[in-house]
Amino acid sequence: MRRFENKVIVVTGAAAGIGEATVRRFVREGGKVVIADYAREKADALAVELQGQGAEVMAVYFSAVDLESCRKLIGVAGEEFGRIDVLVNNVGGTDLKRDTDVEKMDIGYFDEAFHLNLRCGLYLIQQVIPYMEKSGGGAVVNVASIGGMTADFRGTYYGAAKAGVINMTKYAATQLGKKNIRCNVVAPGLVLTPAALRNLPEAMRCLFVRHNVLDYLGAPEDVAATIAFLASEDAHYITGQTLVVDGGLTIHNPTVADIMEK
Ligand SMILES: NC(=O)c1ccc[n+]([C@@H]2O[C@H](COP(=O)([O-])OP(=O)(O)OC[C@H]3O[C@@H](n4cnc5c(N)ncnc54)[C@H](O)[C@@H]3O)[C@@H](O)[C@H]2O)c1
Repeated sequence: MRRFENKVIVVTGAAAGIGEATVRRFVREGGKVVIADYAREKADALAVELQGQGAEVMAVYFSAVDLESCRKLIGVAGEEFGRIDVLVNNVGGTDLKRDTDVEKMDIGYFDEAFHLNLRCGLYLIQQVIPYMEKSGGGAVVNVASIGGMTADFRGTYYGAAKAGVINMTKYAATQLGKKNIRCNVVAPGLVLTPAALRNLPEAMRCLFVRHNVLDYLGAPEDVAATIAFLASEDAHYITGQTLVVDGGLTIHNPTVADIMEK
């Protein structure tokens, strides 16, 4: 499949994990990709590797919590390639030392958590509208999390901001549909990114597999494939939706795993 021939795609948080897998997927399907990340060296190395294989890609330094940096990213991408067809708002995350439970969380972390997970994506959508409008439409895919749909014992800001991403996407989809700009969400469950593989204790991994419907945990490529689908013409009648990519973790009663073992 080469669904993105002659298309320009901007991916944020693109130097590692789900973002990197997404870049590789779009490149494999013929797209020209802007690799936006604050990890300069990693982003540059990925760009050099893919350029060596003949891909049209460009690494751009961008800091998700800085509006000026977000504005510059879209300006540079538009200038370099002349158009922007797809925006993947992938960057996100949280500091779980500060983003704990309601009783103990650090209120001083509120702005940063929301800027990283919600404001950045919303502002980038605002910035790409003129480009997409000029070329007759486009697609936005926002990466949320099952943490934006269900609660946990920590990561309160993260979950609230990701819930915001899900509903913000419906607003954007509603307001931009007549311009032929589709906006959708991918909500991953636990994904075995290199960082997760390094940091996730074996016991925790087993716990997640036990509660998953499928008997394994997802890889970044699984999420990348879903992002590419929603960004492609195959999804041309889908907008404002959230596609959960979690191996069935959140579809069932939480007691199922325990009852099945009895
Ligand atoms: N990995 C998971 O299990 C999982 C689960 C649910 C949702 N998600 C969501 O998927 C997205 C990607 O997650 P991941 O685990 O692949 O990410 P990651 O932590 O591996 O980071 C991906 C990239 O984002 C860059 N980045 C981080 N903060 C940045 C900032 N402020 N400015 C610019 N670049 C920045 C990093 O340098 C890195 O290259 C995030 O929105 C995350 O919330 C991930």
